Amino acid sequence: MAIALIILAAGQGTRMNSDLPKVLHRLGGAPLLAHALHAGRSLEPERVTVVAGHGAEAVTKAVAKLDPEAEVVLQAEQLGTGHAVAQAILQLSEFNGRVIVLYGDTPFIRPETLAALAESRADVTVLGFEAADPGRYGRLVVAGGALERIVEFKDATDEERAITLCNSGVISCDATQLAQLVGQIGNDNAAGEYYLTDIVGLARDRGLTAEVVTCPEAETLGINTRAELARAEALFQARARDEALENGVTLADPATTYFALDTWIGRDVVIGPNVVFGPGVTVESGATIEAFCHLEDCHISRGATIGPFARLRGGAELAEDVHIGNFVEVKNSILGEGVKAGHLSYLGDADIGEHTNIGAATVTCNYDGVFKHRTTIGANAFIGSDTMLVAPVTVGDGALTGSGSVITEDVPAGAVALGRAKQVVKPGLATKLFERLRAQKANLKKGA
Ligand code: UD1
Ligand code: CA
Repeated sequence: MAIALIILAAGQGTRMNSDLPKVLHRLGGAPLLAHALHAGRSLEPERVTVVAGHGAEAVTKAVAKLDPEAEVVLQAEQLGTGHAVAQAILQLSEFNGRVIVLYGDTPFIRPETLAALAESRADVTVLGFEAADPGRYGRLVVAGGALERIVEFKDATDEERAITLCNSGVISCDATQLAQLVGQIGNDNAAGEYYLTDIVGLARDRGLTAEVVTCPEAETLGINTRAELARAEALFQARARDEALENGVTLADPATTYFALDTWIGRDVVIGPNVVFGPGVTVESGATIEAFCHLEDCHISRGATIGPFARLRGGAELAEDVHIGNFVEVKNSILGEGVKAGHLSYLGDADIGEHTNIGAATVTCNYDGVFKHRTTIGANAFIGSDTMLVAPVTVGDGALTGSGSVITEDVPAGAVALGRAKQVVKPGLATKLFERLRAQKANLKKGA
């Protein structure tokens, strides 16, 4: 059946105490909203509509980046979850199929749970959970196995508040029926809001069916405060670590490996302690990442060895068997098979051919203060220690640069380039110099 997703993300998130809209706070290196989109995308929906309100401009920008096919509708005033869905459903008048409503601040719903909701044949299906502490959640009133209605905490009687089966907020309903039902929602309740949850009672009044699909409480965890965000981050990392271990990745000290939502790591990768994966990292099977590396938006191929203490930044593409050693930073650079940069170097905006050796303390001087320029180095070249490569510059295949050279002009294949002052040796001069200085010091002491 065709699926349309509606993701509610208009709320202010007052308790985050932030200028940033709540759904753009990061969990696992990705905005909260990305987690809902990611789970929802597993249903292969035909349409995805995000309802934005507070910080709509920033949310719209983020959605365009995260999911260019998703649409954003504006809910200028946040009059309740029912009102939010009403804004989105206007966009779906042509859509035939099932709508699933998710919250942008609820990142842990699993694809399997959403699949169960999508498969439900009841007219309205609500994702519920048994709450350890039901607090202020909406309560699911079930009678004879069927869902009768949802009552919000504020409006509930003591008897209803004793119910522990709670509303996660995720609801699934036929699109045409949903449009009619949300049209009927009023705001005559304790909060003066248009409650989406009212559609259950309204559906039952029309003789439609409603049921509950349940999931573990952990999946329904919503983020309202920074403390909750921090706890959610810990949960996210714990799951990501377990998943990596299950997938055949060795983690020397799992508690100190940090993953992002989109980290992809192949089998038999070995990861040392204190390694951070920012967004956009892929690591092929059999690579090794030693302790204290920081990686983002980069690709590491089979057999590569990284670190300890290496930093790979945006656009670092490392071919097979590349070696990056301690205190080396690589940004927006393509390194061919077997390239070695073992120590203390900066490689930015560079193309480096196969089996080239980059000596310690090499720097690609890629920035002139206004523009960035590329450095191109051929295959099997040898860049001597402490070479400054002032870009734009090209070093040919098999060429060699002398240690300490400042290379400002292209070096042809097979050539040696020396860009440094010629060495001068003055016999005995150091001895004389030190004698003079020591005598000076002795005189100063006498005078004092
Ligand atoms: C809602 C449910 C409650 C459920 C709980 C689960 C309703 C009336 N109540 O309550 O039954 O137990 O979630 O967490 O639905 N939003 C908008 N526009 C609005 C209002 C809200 O986009 O006008 C978005 C918020 O940004 C948020 C989500 O909808 O992502 C839920 O809104 P919130 O105000 O947190 O609902 P609760 O009171 O927690
Ligand atoms: Ca909430």
